[in-house]
Amino acid sequence: MRILQLTDLHIFAAPNVRLKGIPTRESLQDVVVHVLATEQPFDHVIITGDHTHDERPESYQAVRDILAPWSDRLSQIPGNHDDRAVLRQVFSDRVARSDSDRINFQRTAGDWLLLGLDTHVPGEVAGNIEERQIAWLTERLSASDQPSVALFLHHPPVEIGSEWMDAIGLNGRELLQEVVKNDDRIRLICCGHVHHEFQSTIGNAAVFTTPSTGIQFDPAGATPNFAADAPGYRVIEFDGADFETHVGRLPTVKYVPDND
Ligand SMILES: [Fe+2]
Repeated sequence: MRILQLTDLHIFAAPNVRLKGIPTRESLQDVVVHVLATEQPFDHVIITGDHTHDERPESYQAVRDILAPWSDRLSQIPGNHDDRAVLRQVFSDRVARSDSDRINFQRTAGDWLLLGLDTHVPGEVAGNIEERQIAWLTERLSASDQPSVALFLHHPPVEIGSEWMDAIGLNGRELLQEVVKNDDRIRLICCGHVHHEFQSTIGNAAVFTTPSTGIQFDPAGATPNFAADAPGYRVIEFDGADFETHVGRLPTVKYVPDND
């Protein structure tokens, strides 16, 4: 079983708009071409939020078009740069309609239960986990006898040691940390939001953040800073109860971000 994680696409409705000097649509297209060239089959392709930068239907449609090679295997959760209603509308065949306003997902991959948790708060950059999300998570955990569990969410449930990024992190993360510490089956947590690669642990779980398919962040300093690193993605491979994961990147830095 193999999974592709794509995160922080930040697509605009107009094709050539740049985010701090990075043409995010072209960059996503380059990442897709690069991944396809590796000829790895994926059982699931998981997008951990920030599909678009402007939250417009045309932008979500562009994401849909670019990710067409995997349109039958997408799983999605929103980030801060997402609009739940538009995401549901454009990906109506992939995103579950429920009476909850949250966009969570549940999938399986071999021995693994995959759970996506929506941390989006309309109008806010930081995310939030509240009791209702914890209740959804614990219910799914207790209903499953899968021996291993991986969680996917936009905002990392740990501090990443970056003054400016930790200031826009996940509120309520202690609630989620408690659930993870109390269930040894949760072995893997994959996130986005911070636009760079980082690793930590909670309980029995390894926590990973993944580079953006577009602009890369520099965690240093107290204010936002952008790094001249190549756009990337994450591959996760499950072998029974074991997993292996690595970040892949475009081979060259085609665009340097504008820090002015
Ligand atoms: Fe982002």
